[in-house]
Amino acid sequence: FSLKNYNTFGIEAKAKQFVAVHNVSELRTILEQNKTEKKFILGGGSNMLLTKDIDALVIHIDLKGHKIIDENDDYVWVESQAGENWHEFVLWTIVQNLGGLENMSLIPGNVGTTPVQNIGAYGTEIKDTFISCEAMKIENQEMKTFTKDECHFGYRESIFKNEVKDQYIITSVIYKLTKRNHKINISYGDIASELAKNHITKPSLKDVSNAVIAIRESKLPNPKELGNSGSFFKNPIILKKDFDKIHPLFPEMKYYDVSETEVKVPAGWLIEQAGFKGKRFGNAGIHKNQALVLVNYGNATGKEILAIATTIQDTIFKTFGIQIEAEVNVI
Ligand code: EPU
Repeated sequence: FSLKNYNTFGIEAKAKQFVAVHNVSELRTILEQNKTEKKFILGGGSNMLLTKDIDALVIHIDLKGHKIIDENDDYVWVESQAGENWHEFVLWTIVQNLGGLENMSLIPGNVGTTPVQNIGAYGTEIKDTFISCEAMKIENQEMKTFTKDECHFGYRESIFKNEVKDQYIITSVIYKLTKRNHKINISYGDIASELAKNHITKPSLKDVSNAVIAIRESKLPNPKELGNSGSFFKNPIILKKDFDKIHPLFPEMKYYDVSETEVKVPAGWLIEQAGFKGKRFGNAGIHKNQALVLVNYGNATGKEILAIATTIQDTIFKTFGIQIEAEVNVI
């Protein structure tokens, strides 16, 4: 079974077996029937690089639906099934005039993977609206609720990438969104200027979403046209005392304080300075508008893309003494 249409990099890789599940009971049945089989869980396929065929039963999580499950004067609690497309879900919340997700418009992927990565963009992260998620334990098919505290969210991190890695399948997520007094957040650089361009002074949720969409479309390639997985690398977080040694050598280096002792450096800046932006190596390369994004020009293999990533990492380390890490899951 070809996985080419199931990963946004558009990489050709084969699955030994493939099944799509549409509800929790189908998922339970499949897991019960394949206790000893090796399994690989696939959501939206937007955050992985396939470097080989998958010698396992691939279970595609295709649970659909979303609804308001509770509300008071100020907030609503919305539950979405894991297989819903994230951006379509965000657009639905905006049509309902529900606030909190607008800055994360147009992030690729499905609802079920948003807590895994603690996805974020333009000054907002999923943890800001996340209440809880339901997940099935692969081993015994028992359902468990993970509250926000239990998820141990960090920058593109959660319990699902660490303590309980590969043990649970997230089936639905609950977010708490505002009904009124929306906390519009346009402090992140480009949003304000994008709104100003359109002479918008009191932005609605829709205005913010449209601004984010315009910015993303100008910088980030559409995976339907050019295979990619969004930011390939995480922005490295380094110790302030190390940063203070590097910064004088590269005074133009951009940075953000994350704590008393740590600084975050944009990997996109490092990669651009190292001369990789827009470069092509055979069937793959580095996007011309955003150096954090690796792209497949059509027939790249996962191994080719991985080789480019490794070259970039080595060069960044040699040039700046900074280690950058993949954000994408390399399989
Ligand atoms: N920069 C460059 N050259 C580049 C790219 C960026 O110099 O080619 C500089 C920019 O000028 C800016 C800084 O790096 O000063 C940061 O760039 P930007 O605001 O575009 O964001 P980013 O750090 O590159 C992160 C997320 C994105 C998210 C944006 C916006 C990570 C790994 N990436 O990118 O998330 O959309 O912020 O909030 O944290 C993703 O995770 O897939 C993703 C696209």
